[in-house]
Amino acid sequence: ALISLRELLDYAAEHDFGLPAFNVNNLEQIQAIMQAAHEVDSPVIMQGSAGARKYAGEPFLRHLIEAALEEYPDVPVVMHQDHGSEPGVCLRSIQSGFSSVMMDGSLMPDMKTPATYEYNVDVTRKVVEMAHAVGVSVEGELGCLGSLETGQAGEEDGSGAEGTLSHDQLLTDPEEAADFVKQTGADALAIAIGTSHGAYKFTRPPTGDILAIERVKEIHARIPDTHLVMHGSSSVPQEWLDIINEYGGEMPETYGVPVKEIQEGIKHGVRKVNVDTDLRLASTGAVRKHLAENKDNFDPRKFLKESTAAMKEVCKARYEAFGSAGHG
Ligand code: G3H
Ligand code: 13P
Ligand code: NA
Ligand code: ZN
Repeated sequence: ALISLRELLDYAAEHDFGLPAFNVNNLEQIQAIMQAAHEVDSPVIMQGSAGARKYAGEPFLRHLIEAALEEYPDVPVVMHQDHGSEPGVCLRSIQSGFSSVMMDGSLMPDMKTPATYEYNVDVTRKVVEMAHAVGVSVEGELGCLGSLETGQAGEEDGSGAEGTLSHDQLLTDPEEAADFVKQTGADALAIAIGTSHGAYKFTRPPTGDILAIERVKEIHARIPDTHLVMHGSSSVPQEWLDIINEYGGEMPETYGVPVKEIQEGIKHGVRKVNVDTDLRLASTGAVRKHLAENKDNFDPRKFLKESTAAMKEVCKARYEAFGSAGHG
C-alpha cells in the first residue's frame, strides 16, 4: 500500500530505526527492492531522480512502481521524488501520484550553483504548502553535498555543485537547520556531513574529519523531532569493486560510507538513508561476472536475473542493518 514519507518516518522514529531509500530506474531494481522487503518484512522507500525520469520516462517509472504495489499489496511503500530542482518539478510529481517529494533548494535550478539560504527557505516553503494540501510529504536539504577532503561535489555525471565548496557549505549548521525547519515545515531534512553522490566519496576509509557523524548528533540535539536524511550513503562494498575489476572492469580504489557509521547516525535521528550506487555496483558486478563466465549466452534475462539477485542481497543487508526489517 502507498503511504506518505511522514507517516513512515514518524513510525520509524517511534521505534528507533532507519530505512534505506533506494533509487529506481528499471524493472530489475524494483523487483530486487520488493523481493528483499517481502522476505525480511520491511517497509519500502523507492525514489526516482531526474535522471531516472529521463532514462525510463515518467509514465514507465510510475507504472513500474504501481506494479510493485499491486504485486505486493501488504508491503508499505513510499513513492518519493528525489532531488526536485524547482517547485514545478515537485508539483508535477505530486500531480502524478508520488506520496513524497524532495525540494532540493540547496542548489539553484541548474543544480550546480549553491543557493542562498533565503532562496532555499522560499522554494521549500512553497512546495510544503502545495504538498501538504494534498497529504504529500516534503524533504528539504540544507547544506551542500560534497567531499570535506577536496571541496568537490564529486559526482561523476556532472550534477552537484560546481567549483570548490567551503567547509561552511559542506557542513549543515544546527542553528540554521532549526530555523529552516521552523520556517518551511518540511517533514524531513537532508543534511550535509561530508558525503557525496556516486562511487568516489573518500580516498581512504573515512574517519571523523572527513565523515562528520558528530555533526549529525549536534543537529539532532538541536532539532530532536526532525527526521534527518543522509544522501550519498552508499557503502561502496569492496567485494563488488573486486568482482567488477576481476571481470574486466577498471574502477580505481575508493571508499563509501561504512554501514557502522550509518547505524551511528540512525541512533541520532537519521531515518532515511539514500542508496543508489551500491545497487549499481552489485548489478554491474553480477552482469560482468555472468557474461564473462557464459560467453555463449545472448539471453538478457539470464544476466538480468543475476543483476536482480545481487541487488536483492544488498537490499536485504541494508534493511537488516538499518533496522527496518520486521517492521513491514
Ligand atoms: O541523486 C543522486 C542519485 O544517485 C541519482 O542519480 O541522477 O544518475 O539518476 P541519477
Ligand atoms: P549514493 O550515490 O551514495 O548511492 O547516494 C544516492 C543518493 O543520495 C540519491 O539521492
Ligand atoms: Na531524496
Ligand atoms: Zn541525493
